[in-house]
Amino acid sequence: MGFLNNILMTIKKVMLVFGTRPEAIKMAPLVKELEKYPNKYKVIVVVTAQHREMLDQVLSIFNIKPDYDLDLMKKGQDLYDVTSRVLLGMREVLSKNSPDIVLVHGDTTTSTAAALSAFYEQIPVGHVEAGLRTYNIYSPWPEEANRQLTSRLATYHFAPTELSKDNLLKEGISNDKIFVTGNTVIDALNMVVNKFKNDIELEEKIITNLSKAGFCNVRGERKIVLITGHRRENFGNGFINICEAIKELSVKYPNVDFIYPMHLNPNVRNAIRKVFGNINNIFGNLFFIEPLEYLSFVYLMEKSSIILTDSGGIQEEAPSLGKPVLVMRDTTERPEAIEAGTVKLVGTNVKQIVNEVSMLLDDEEYYKNISKAINPYGDGFACSRILKRL
Ligand code: UD1
Ligand code: UDP
Repeated sequence: MGFLNNILMTIKKVMLVFGTRPEAIKMAPLVKELEKYPNKYKVIVVVTAQHREMLDQVLSIFNIKPDYDLDLMKKGQDLYDVTSRVLLGMREVLSKNSPDIVLVHGDTTTSTAAALSAFYEQIPVGHVEAGLRTYNIYSPWPEEANRQLTSRLATYHFAPTELSKDNLLKEGISNDKIFVTGNTVIDALNMVVNKFKNDIELEEKIITNLSKAGFCNVRGERKIVLITGHRRENFGNGFINICEAIKELSVKYPNVDFIYPMHLNPNVRNAIRKVFGNINNIFGNLFFIEPLEYLSFVYLMEKSSIILTDSGGIQEEAPSLGKPVLVMRDTTERPEAIEAGTVKLVGTNVKQIVNEVSMLLDDEEYYKNISKAINPYGDGFACSRILKRL
């Protein structure tokens, strides 16, 4: 009995809290890694469901069954809704479980509010993907402030790169609390790429899935420009500009397919409706589709020539796949791939977006130079490094 008690006492209760699609993708490999050691860790997965459908797509691909689901998403929610609902939901979950550590990820309102709730219970917080900065609290908004706030609340900081570690050191965080691990997104990416690279049947399934989603040219010879967008600071004019640029490009390049899996945020869809509502897709090369599950999305990234996005996660994944990324933002907290030359900031100016995409489509030499595969964000072993530190 005493022996059993000793074992139980040495098992650490690790609670992981996440709620949006990108957090789920980046925390999934960590859940899987922790679950390999049941004699060391009791893993408690809490999803806030800040996203619903887009979160469930990820849970299903990685076969994760949460222990708690706060199910808080409301259509058209604002930041007050999410913050208050995460805090209230976490109060009960934390008091029922008393974890030894709470792990949160990145920069969403789920992660900052969950970190704050753990702080209220005096439970140490481990921040995965810590130390990314633009030092402009309105860009990305509210993510930059979320990151800085979470750094103030966290005890352990899992920084993806040396640069992110330096940011934390400059803010006075002690060296022995910061661990450079690489980004878990590369662990997730490798997991899915390895799945479809070695499995022809699965590849066929993905192609069928893409075709059902509304895109049947993936096997063809045509070039693909893949587009995503959802940043709050681009709502309004930013998105209208992005859509105008896509419209212009689709007419300029009738032999190129432009495919846009649309984020479910109504602000994103309204802009698309406004610009494309009445246009005739004369060349049949514009594809607006529903959000794709991760496997199909990564497959499509692999098949694309250019990625046009304002996403954080895609900026990290695409360089690993050797795909040039044009980032439709004015700032980025991920300068590593820009320095390496595969990612370029283009803002939301119509002319600039059209020019940059045109250069990549027209100039083979330029394209070759910018599309070299690099891995500034990780080697696929970030999760095992995090476990070592736990
Ligand atoms: C959130 C994060 C952002 C992250 C992004 C990833 C905050 C403040 N924002 O932004 O940092 O980059 O997720 O995608 O934490 N919706 C659905 N179903 C879904 C998901 C969203 O219908 O599965 C719709 C709902 O109407 C919801 C709205 O989108 O109210 C906005 O969702 P929310 O999580 O508040 O903001 P995002 O723009 O998704
Ligand atoms: N993604 C996906 N399906 C899609 C679009 C994106 O699975 O239709 C993945 C993408 O590969 C990346 C993550 O979602 O891992 C990025 O999410 P998002 O752009 O919503 O958020 P961000 O990374 O900007 O916070």
